[in-house]
Amino acid sequence: MSQRADTALAPDPVAQTPDRGPKHVAIIMDGNGRWAQARGRPRLFGHHAGAKRVREVVECCPALGVKYLTIFAFSTENWKRTQVEVAGLMSLFRRYISKEMKALSQRNVRVRFIGDRVRLDKKLVGLMDQLEQETSCNDGTHLTIALNYGGRDEVARATKRLARDVAEGRLNPDDVDEETLPKYLDTHVLPDPDLVIRTSGEARISNFLLWQSAYAEYEFIDTLWPDFSAEELKRLCDAYGQRDRRFGAVKP
Ligand code: IPE
Ligand code: IPE
Ligand code: MG
Repeated sequence: MSQRADTALAPDPVAQTPDRGPKHVAIIMDGNGRWAQARGRPRLFGHHAGAKRVREVVECCPALGVKYLTIFAFSTENWKRTQVEVAGLMSLFRRYISKEMKALSQRNVRVRFIGDRVRLDKKLVGLMDQLEQETSCNDGTHLTIALNYGGRDEVARATKRLARDVAEGRLNPDDVDEETLPKYLDTHVLPDPDLVIRTSGEARISNFLLWQSAYAEYEFIDTLWPDFSAEELKRLCDAYGQRDRRFGAVKP
């Protein structure tokens, strides 16, 4: 059998991914601390290694047909960590944004941040605004970074705004349905995630995209985030392509 006929009989599963694969992938990037600990290094060493993986993952999205990538960088609960770790993470975010600004703009990546900015320092918020502004005309991969983000906090902030609209006569309570609240969420311009991945072996969602992931597919994998790779994302997108999403219905 010629090689050409052989190839036609066995289509490459990776090549099929863009059609059947997830359009919106959300990732809980967990395991930086354990990755560092395993090397006898401080936790921040793991966070730096983790930040380096983000570029590779963003870059492989177009080939996989992933239009939206949302990554969990810092949760509303992560303030419970030591002052040294929190300060180190904030400084890492500032450095990451400054360093990646040009590359993200040039690669046609549109960056957005979700989460509550009120508790973040002014300099970091300024850089976040600048990166959003700088990439606002890009229409390639939509990268959303969840920073000081918590699903419950987001729903509480959204509800506060919704209640204000009711109190001030802009919204009739009888018109509130399940299409209403998402319009007030930080993610209001994004589609719901199709696939949520959590690295590091923990099988929990830790307050990530609670409303939006109601019907997402989940993958909990053992890889620690600094070891995650484009190949692994490809594998998970292919596996997603084999799943049957029924949304409560029964397929005829
Ligand atoms: C995820 O890695 C990064 C953040 C939560 C900021 P961790 O720091 O949670 O790493 P582990 O879970 O302790 O290994
Ligand atoms: C979730 O990881 C938050 C991020 C990845 C930013 P955590 O390490 O904070 O979650 P828990 O504490 O194990 O639930
Ligand atoms: Mg963790």
